[in-house]
Amino acid sequence: MNTHVVSLREHARDRRSGTRNAGRGQIEIRNVSIHFGRGHDAHPAVMETTLDIAPGEFVCLLGPSGCGKSTLLNSMAGYVKPSSGTVLVDGEAVSGPGPDRGMVFQQYSLFPWKTIRDNIGFGPKLAGRGYAETDSVANTFLEMIGLTKFADKYPAELSGGMQQRVGIARALANYPSVLLMDEPFGALDAQTRLMMQESLLATWSAFSTTVVFVTHDVDEAVFLADRVLIMSAGPGAIIADLRVPLDRPRAADMATTPQFMQLKKQCLDLIRAESLKAFEQQNR
Ligand SMILES: Nc1ncnc2c1ncn2[C@@H]1O[C@H](COP(=O)(O)OP(=O)(O)OP(=O)(O)O)[C@@H](O)[C@H]1O
Ligand SMILES: [Mg+2]
Repeated sequence: MNTHVVSLREHARDRRSGTRNAGRGQIEIRNVSIHFGRGHDAHPAVMETTLDIAPGEFVCLLGPSGCGKSTLLNSMAGYVKPSSGTVLVDGEAVSGPGPDRGMVFQQYSLFPWKTIRDNIGFGPKLAGRGYAETDSVANTFLEMIGLTKFADKYPAELSGGMQQRVGIARALANYPSVLLMDEPFGALDAQTRLMMQESLLATWSAFSTTVVFVTHDVDEAVFLADRVLIMSAGPGAIIADLRVPLDRPRAADMATTPQFMQLKKQCLDLIRAESLKAFEQQNR
């Protein structure tokens, strides 16, 4: 196991991380439809979706390109307002972005003009924490992601995998009850991706955070999730909700077990059918 994962495990013993979010992070999506455009240009992206995600669950969202995964995720983040229906987080209707929901995108969306330390400390500083507390949070997370030595560097001086670790740390520095991730490892090479998946699982178990993770990669979804939700070709609706009964902690070699393969095949069969539909729709 790499030192990054070990340091995360140690971090789990910190009383600040393990208990703060316990019981929080419940997501209720009630009959949500989302349309874009107006009049002649109006088109539906998400159709009448109802979904419950329990506090602390790790849910992956899979579906063909353009089916509405990002749109649904953005409605949880508060970036997109549903045309009808409601999204509730911990019983409160989502009406905009908030520090209780951290977001990580595929493109490393760090502030290029800020150092790594200042990127991580951005949320706590914005929340009005004092200098000492902001610094302490930044140090904790720098250590957690194994980048203490890079604290005073700028994003452009880091590799893609390092930048994405900073992106996750920045999202977690507000101690959100929900972490929303939109293909966060999509731009990484296969080996870095595996390491990032392992360390994300360690972070998740340390933080008791609910995770909603969008991906195109079936192996990634099965490896990470408690539940894999599969969306139909656009306009997206959830057509399958598969439990992943694999033991935790997960290890990379689980990907060759019959149980893993069987789940993967189930997902692939569903995705293939929906991807064909999406392709036909988009080329009509
Ligand atoms: N801001 C927007 N304005 C207009 N249409 C949009 C907007 N965002 C998304 N759409 C449309 O909504 C549909 C769903 O898009 P979305 O980005 O949610 O798909 P996705 O499943 O995340 O796709 P991908 O896997 O390629 O990222 C698409 O038809 C897209 O063109
Ligand atoms: Mg998307």
